[in-house]
Amino acid sequence: MSQDPAKTIHTLLEEKRSFPPPPEFTAQANASDPGIYDLAERDFEAWWAGWAEKLDWDRKWDRVLEWDPPRAKWFLGGRLNASVQCLDRHVAAGRGDRVAFHFEGEPGDTRTLTYADMLAGVCRVANGLKALGIGKGDRVTLYMPMVPELAMTVLACARIGAIFSVVFAGFSAVSLRDRIQDQGARLVVTADGCWRRGKVLDLKAVVDEALRGCDTVEKVLVWRRGEGVTTAGPGGPKDVEWSELVDPQPAECPPESMDAEDVLFILYTSGTTGKPKGIYHTHGGYLTGTYATSNLVFDLKPDRDVFWCTADIGWITGHSYIVFGPMANGVTQVMYEGAPNHPAPDRFWELVEKYRVSVFYTAPTAIRAFMKWGDEHPARHDLSSLRLLGTVGEPINPEAWVWYHERIGGGRCPIVDTWWQTETGMIMITPLPGITATVPGSATRPFPGVQARLFDDRGREVEGAGGGYLVLTRPWPAMLRGIWGDEARYEATYWSRFDGAYFPGDGAKRDAEGNYWILGRVDDVMNVSGHRLSTMEIESALVDHHAVAEAAVIGVHHELKGQAPVGFVILRSGFEPTPELNEEIRNHVAELIGGLARPEKVIFTPELPKTRSGKIMRRLLRDVAEGKALGDTTTLADPGVLAGLKAEYETKEG
Ligand code: WT7
Repeated sequence: MSQDPAKTIHTLLEEKRSFPPPPEFTAQANASDPGIYDLAERDFEAWWAGWAEKLDWDRKWDRVLEWDPPRAKWFLGGRLNASVQCLDRHVAAGRGDRVAFHFEGEPGDTRTLTYADMLAGVCRVANGLKALGIGKGDRVTLYMPMVPELAMTVLACARIGAIFSVVFAGFSAVSLRDRIQDQGARLVVTADGCWRRGKVLDLKAVVDEALRGCDTVEKVLVWRRGEGVTTAGPGGPKDVEWSELVDPQPAECPPESMDAEDVLFILYTSGTTGKPKGIYHTHGGYLTGTYATSNLVFDLKPDRDVFWCTADIGWITGHSYIVFGPMANGVTQVMYEGAPNHPAPDRFWELVEKYRVSVFYTAPTAIRAFMKWGDEHPARHDLSSLRLLGTVGEPINPEAWVWYHERIGGGRCPIVDTWWQTETGMIMITPLPGITATVPGSATRPFPGVQARLFDDRGREVEGAGGGYLVLTRPWPAMLRGIWGDEARYEATYWSRFDGAYFPGDGAKRDAEGNYWILGRVDDVMNVSGHRLSTMEIESALVDHHAVAEAAVIGVHHELKGQAPVGFVILRSGFEPTPELNEEIRNHVAELIGGLARPEKVIFTPELPKTRSGKIMRRLLRDVAEGKALGDTTTLADPGVLAGLKAEYETKEG
């Protein structure tokens, strides 16, 4: 299909529903033989061991897998270091001059870092961390912008065996504090500031506020962004200047030999309760899984590709598909600090053209925004370097898929719609671009060696075409090993719903061709712009405001974000439902959690729809918010509540 601007995306969608891999793509693909699915299926342990063998181990494993449900250990007895896979072995093989990152700051400042530069930088940071007394097993919290120093610090922690935990720099001081305390971090690494949509974000001020009450933290290492960032920066008694500590360090640092099952990092994600879960991953299995999937799903050719994953390293996508997977493969990447529409809506396409990006990975929420901003922005740039596109984070609507395929991919690039989670660590359901016929809106099939099933309500398997709860019925190397400090919650959250199977929290259907269509979360978790938010967490933040007596939160459909939080709030007596108070309450949520969680709307209501036993009926609130016919209301204690709410909601609509 050629790029024909006269054709609307809708007619294109009508014309074609299945996109076989282009023969030219298959001819050069890392995976082109459909037989690899059977191969992996026949002996999945041998399949994964084959990938592990492509890494450099200090000591080879004795056993591939020990599966004592729900606990898995991979590559038992094996020893390696994750930073060595990402750096030393490329440099040792004579590829130190290859560019690791083309960095572009939002104001337009640029830096080029080769693999040798990254190795030297990582060693300096590692030596700096050691000088601060940080060693194996210590926790280090990173609250940093999207700059090469973030990737360096991640790899430096891995190098000395310290457990790192990156907190996305959009989270509030309160969220940051909770995470620092939960993991008992000894060190926080941050920056004085960074650029976002032409404004400076003062990260250091957030850290300073978060640190009140964090007694475990001994030092704060502060990197300076430069380029006009003039926040106060370091100055406190715990603060250490990066330029004073790190820059003078020697550029060599022997890597710690880590057990395959030693913890590599902790990353927090929202669950169904108010408290985020500290998901932890280990060295050997995580690296094997991200290495293999980067290689086959993104078809990486380190000698020619320029890969750009637009995620922030603060999320799992950035951990797995900026730092570990692509760097273990030794590919060149683009890293961009800022917003996609700064200074203009074509910033991404300008960067694709400038750096000749060949493989591009982004989220449906971004694609929908690009569609809205207009076709003229990508059309103005030469995007002919692109050969493969990817998407992640939420179900992609077929219109956005086809737009992406036509307007960005010029009709020639396969699209990999990759389903996975913080917990899975690696891509789990996805096309292989040289093999799989893709279907707009479907993540297609499990990666080789991965086993997915659909279960019904009672845990019976749904065979063939049908719908149900998506489950994973076989361990995989990059799977989470647990929840930091709460092992009972690990079992309860993921392994108790269905016997012996991992339950990710998503519903899915499978078509007659065996393609999976992810339908979204079936728990009290919403997906806002590809990020997970818990309704409970937002409810707790709402009731934390002094004017709020009771609150219920739901995720409603949102054109750009996929879903957006909407709060229904009962005010305490004595408070008037003014627009100012409404704004203040919404800001309160942003202050407690982060901007991402700010409710799209807050509706003041004298009552909430509840069952006779007092349970809030969120399903009905959703019907109200989405303007749908109300579902079954017979179990409501007071059916009159809803009519009032509906009227209130509709006045807010205008
Ligand atoms: C949840 C995981 C994996 C990195 C980004 C989010 C949803 C993710 C897809 C996709 C449909 C998807 C699921 C999943 N999700 N990718 N390709 N199609 N839904 O990581 O914050 O751990 O969220 O995102 O609901 O459970 P996360």
